[in-house]
Amino acid sequence: MAETEVGTFGFVGLGNMGAMMASNLATYAESKGLPKVQIWNRTRSKIKSLATNSHCEVAASISELAQKCDIVHTCLANDDVAFSVCRELFQSRKEGLIVVDHSTLFPTTSTTLNEEAEQAGVSFMSCPVFGPPAAAKSAGLLIVLSGKENSRSKVQSYIVPTLGKAVIDCGEDTSKGALLKILGNNCILGTIELLSESFTLAEKTGFDTNIFYDFIQQWFPAAAWVNYGKKIRDGTFSGKTGFTLPGGMKDAAYIRRLGTETSTPTPIIDQAWNHLTTAKSIGGESLDWSACAAGMRVTAGLKPFKGEDFTLKADNTNGV
Ligand SMILES: NC(=O)c1ccc[n+]([C@@H]2O[C@H](COP(=O)([O-])OP(=O)(O)OC[C@H]3O[C@@H](n4cnc5c(N)ncnc54)[C@H](OP(=O)(O)O)[C@@H]3O)[C@@H](O)[C@H]2O)c1
Repeated sequence: MAETEVGTFGFVGLGNMGAMMASNLATYAESKGLPKVQIWNRTRSKIKSLATNSHCEVAASISELAQKCDIVHTCLANDDVAFSVCRELFQSRKEGLIVVDHSTLFPTTSTTLNEEAEQAGVSFMSCPVFGPPAAAKSAGLLIVLSGKENSRSKVQSYIVPTLGKAVIDCGEDTSKGALLKILGNNCILGTIELLSESFTLAEKTGFDTNIFYDFIQQWFPAAAWVNYGKKIRDGTFSGKTGFTLPGGMKDAAYIRRLGTETSTPTPIIDQAWNHLTTAKSIGGESLDWSACAAGMRVTAGLKPFKGEDFTLKADNTNGV
């Protein structure tokens, strides 16, 4: 495979984000006359339609997928899952394999994976993304690139506009890509916390939240403000098409851990953590992380959910 050419692609982790990205990668591969994208997901039933309707083929195992591919993209739930999947990919020890990981991971996790990849002759890249599943679907993600220079230039040759609209290059050090994603999520969760507070205050003071949302759109026309503002105004907290509460709490924990390790206070995220915890206890793990607002509403004496009722139903089956 020449420097700027790509060969066979693979994709592991076809959740809310990965399924959209793999579909776009498949469209690209087909348009270039490349082989079908090899796909693997823990829950096989979730990828049947991708295999049927796009230029994808289900691999029997992660190691089979690694053997067949030159570049494997991954988008996985958390650090433990990334360790387990990436180690299986590395163990295939396929000469020149590039693993492009889009998961949001703690920086030292990316460093460890990079070191282990090097020992196996694999190139590991930390390439987290900004944007919700809808942006993944429309290839509107902002993509962070970090890893070896020759791998970065190979990935640069197709990743925009295939998976995203732009790239931020963080250089060779894979921990820096992971770090930028966490710093960015500090801003996004901070925005969700502030919107939660502002919409709760608007409702408590009897102000029309539609007019308040009109103000948000006009004065803060950034995606995070507009998209999360709408979810919080309407109470639309289903995690099926967004970022789940456990995922959001994972990222909040990373931010707080970075704060602890560097003696940097993170008071906004500490508050968001409390509201996410409340939302989780009353609505459960399948909520979107913007349900932070439900936690805030409870502390202000409001009903947590004003649109769809996401309240966990009491389980009386064990007689408790
Ligand atoms: N959603 C967003 O808005 C967003 C935006 C930017 C970045 N991210 C990051 O992208 C990553 C994926 O997020 P997502 O929203 O797509 O999450 P998701 O829908 O929960 O998907 C998680 C993926 O990880 C797989 N997985 C979980 N546990 C596993 C295990 N033990 N072994 C193997 N595979 C396992 C899941 O497989 P199953 O299908 O079998 O569960 C699924 O493919 C996360 O790191 C997240 O922080 C998310």
